[in-house]
Amino acid sequence: QPITLSVIKADVGGYVGHSAMHPALLEEARRLMEEAKHKNQIVDYHVTSCGDDLQLIMTHRHGVDHTDIHHMAWDVFTACTQVARKLKLYGAGQDLLADAFSGNVRGMGPGVAEMEINERQSEPILIFMADKTSAGAWNLPLFKMFADPFNTAGLIISPTMHAGFQFEVHDVKGHKRIFFRTPEEMYDLLVFIGATGRYIIKAVFTHDGEIGAVSSTQRLALIAGKYVGKDDPVCVVRTQGAFPAVGEVLEPFTMPHIVEGWMRGSHYGPLMPTSVQQATPSRFDGPPRVIGLGFQLADGQLIGPRDMFDDPCYDEVRRQVNILADQLRRHGPFEPHRLPMDEMEYTTLPQVMEKLRDRWSELP
Ligand code: F6R
Ligand code: MG
Ligand code: MG
Repeated sequence: QPITLSVIKADVGGYVGHSAMHPALLEEARRLMEEAKHKNQIVDYHVTSCGDDLQLIMTHRHGVDHTDIHHMAWDVFTACTQVARKLKLYGAGQDLLADAFSGNVRGMGPGVAEMEINERQSEPILIFMADKTSAGAWNLPLFKMFADPFNTAGLIISPTMHAGFQFEVHDVKGHKRIFFRTPEEMYDLLVFIGATGRYIIKAVFTHDGEIGAVSSTQRLALIAGKYVGKDDPVCVVRTQGAFPAVGEVLEPFTMPHIVEGWMRGSHYGPLMPTSVQQATPSRFDGPPRVIGLGFQLADGQLIGPRDMFDDPCYDEVRRQVNILADQLRRHGPFEPHRLPMDEMEYTTLPQVMEKLRDRWSELP
């Protein structure tokens, strides 16, 4: 019987500002998830946070996009919003863009990454969660994990991976999707996924169609039509055997890769891998953070987590991130620290520009 792993997340209130999560929200979410487990709605769960985002990691037997599971997550977010309101936490209910649940949380604000799998003899899984950045932040690491032989030795050495993978890419502005096979179509794939604001890797599969990774792809600004915070994406990756090893999946994060997000969702900054404890972006509301939790699935039970970036081997990338952060910060409101104009369209800047509209005149 297949098992579904669902990661559903939302920012329902920050502590302090947008920097972290108050323990009372985690407590409320755990209480409700425990209830759902007792009622056998889910098999198991783990609740955590990354910055100001509440992360619900669940296993169940209902398949992806299931109304009951999405509804339950929505109810947890609403209940936690109540707690956030009582404590007057910052931006209570920020990501709940709809007034009431309508069948599926997709397009309503929360981020979702789900996969239905037949659990292998042993099923090691890594779940990445990021704050102060957007969905395109997974493009580079996912490409490296599943298509770059300089990152993933298994692509060369392992007979189970030597054939490569398939990438499902979504055009979040054009609402279309396309599949690319690697290594054959690697250059075609890169034409698109290098543009991380528009083309986003939704999933990766083996050539037999076995799912290896899935990400959350929604862009909140495109849903709401105005800036309501960055999407702070999540990504689930299966590891070992036919998939990259745990160490091959973690390796891309040793590079201080520059992503969009950071202060007011309007800047480029380096992505810092940290422990859950240290995923509290505060310097200029950043720099953007990524956490990685490792689990072994056992008949749907989430054995774990191991906090994968809570390890001295990521000290050097963290140091490099701080150096890059200093360097970028010195640019202040200038590109390439600040996002280019067409991306600023999805921030609060257009309101400021609107005020000056009539002051512009033709060049003499
Ligand atoms: C970025 C983020 C923060 C806020 C900033 C201003 O994703 O959440 O950098 O954009 O703190 O927040 P408001 O507009 O809520 O005062
Ligand atoms: Mg927030
Ligand atoms: Mg956030």
